[in-house]
Amino acid sequence: MAIKFPEGFLWGGATAANQFEGAYNEDGKGLSTQDIAPKGLMGPLTDEPTEDNMKLIGIDFYHRYKEDIKLFAEMGFKTFRLSIAWSRIFPNGDDKEPNEKGLQFYDNVFDELAKYGIEPLVTISHYETPLALAKNYDGWANRKLVGFFENYVRTIFTRYKDKVKYWLTFNEINSAIHAPYMSAGIWTPKEKLSKQDLYQAMHHELVASALAVKIGHEINPEFKIGCMILGVPNYPLTPMPSDVLKAMEKDRENLFFADIHARGEYPKYMNRFFKENNIEIKMEPEDKEILKHTVDFISFSYYVSSCATADPEKNKAGEGNLIFGVPNPYLKASEWGWQIDPEGLRYILNQFYDRYQKPLFIVENGLGAVDELITDENGNKTVNDDYRIKYLNDHLVQVAEAIEDGVELMGYTTWGCIDLVSASTAELKKRYGFIYVDRHDDGSGTLERYKKKSFNWYKEVISTNGASLKK
Ligand code: BG6
Repeated sequence: MAIKFPEGFLWGGATAANQFEGAYNEDGKGLSTQDIAPKGLMGPLTDEPTEDNMKLIGIDFYHRYKEDIKLFAEMGFKTFRLSIAWSRIFPNGDDKEPNEKGLQFYDNVFDELAKYGIEPLVTISHYETPLALAKNYDGWANRKLVGFFENYVRTIFTRYKDKVKYWLTFNEINSAIHAPYMSAGIWTPKEKLSKQDLYQAMHHELVASALAVKIGHEINPEFKIGCMILGVPNYPLTPMPSDVLKAMEKDRENLFFADIHARGEYPKYMNRFFKENNIEIKMEPEDKEILKHTVDFISFSYYVSSCATADPEKNKAGEGNLIFGVPNPYLKASEWGWQIDPEGLRYILNQFYDRYQKPLFIVENGLGAVDELITDENGNKTVNDDYRIKYLNDHLVQVAEAIEDGVELMGYTTWGCIDLVSASTAELKKRYGFIYVDRHDDGSGTLERYKKKSFNWYKEVISTNGASLKK
């Protein structure tokens, strides 16, 4: 059967402000948590930004957005996922008035995208809380963040109400349990945080996310607002019933976040989890009502699957994204140890759709690899990234299978469509893009852009609406 994606399918690529904009202190931008501690899995590292922080310059999208958007348009992008740096708009997070120059920058970017008919897909908060909110309030551990966030979303929703239709609230909201500093701006070191602290902070974010949905729909009823989940399906390591139950529990650790966003209330299974872990969520009287504002769609990232076991002897974590599980003996891994599982994408798409019957959006998927820049027979610099083409092809074939299964899917944006700085390791050696950026971890490089082999490959996938994919 020929591969067919739905009409109007939103093909594109994804980025995050702190990983590619650079210009960390220009035009009134305040510092964000990433400017002093760029490595996702570590806590605060320095008091001030240091030169070796690759994210400070990123790939300089701030000054080169026109050139980059032109390349995205050449590939035929229908959508482009980017995030707004909160501290460009509110430098300290708790400021009364927004920074006009920051707002203007995103106006320019959205106008440039509109020139080519590319729909922006905007993440409101992608791993970069304004540093002052982290230091002075302990980030999302503090209920006050809900109010500051409300102010921020009102400002951007109002300003961009005719330029942006698709919004995501918090990037990988479930990751905050594992990386509380990067994901939730919590200044207190992870080792000192109890489960109570973490789930209370998550409650604040969940309320803020639902509040954003409510406010967004008031400002423009046409807005489509989604949540964003770090998607990692868990397989039982063996057919032992106890392993199957363990996989169910591990899945629920993540699905809990989508459940609230999609169903508007805490799922019952969390009562037991909270009881057994001595967690008591402090709710304000209005919270239950706010949570009822459910999302229009569910978006998620997908890089790896994981295994779960009830056997403590075998329960040894492998590597992969922020949520480490037990490695799968049947799968190969990337150079960074992330296990590659295209069928897991079909599986998780079906899992989400069976559970919610809401439209889905894959907003991150891709292969981080070391690329070698070569000069081809025509004298052009390029990268022969057949490994990336294979990875993306195999995943997209499984996406097509899921669509055939009946899953309603709005679109697919590959992660890091242009090379950018990695979130977990803050390096540029780990490249995801269709476009090579000449910048290296020692700070050298011209920042020139070069098309990789995968650039034309993706262009063809988009122009044929998936028909060029190889089963
Ligand atoms: C996701 C994040 O977890 O994975 C991105 O939303 C991140 O910000 C991506 O870049 C890939 O992870 P890494 O660590 O390879 O950059």
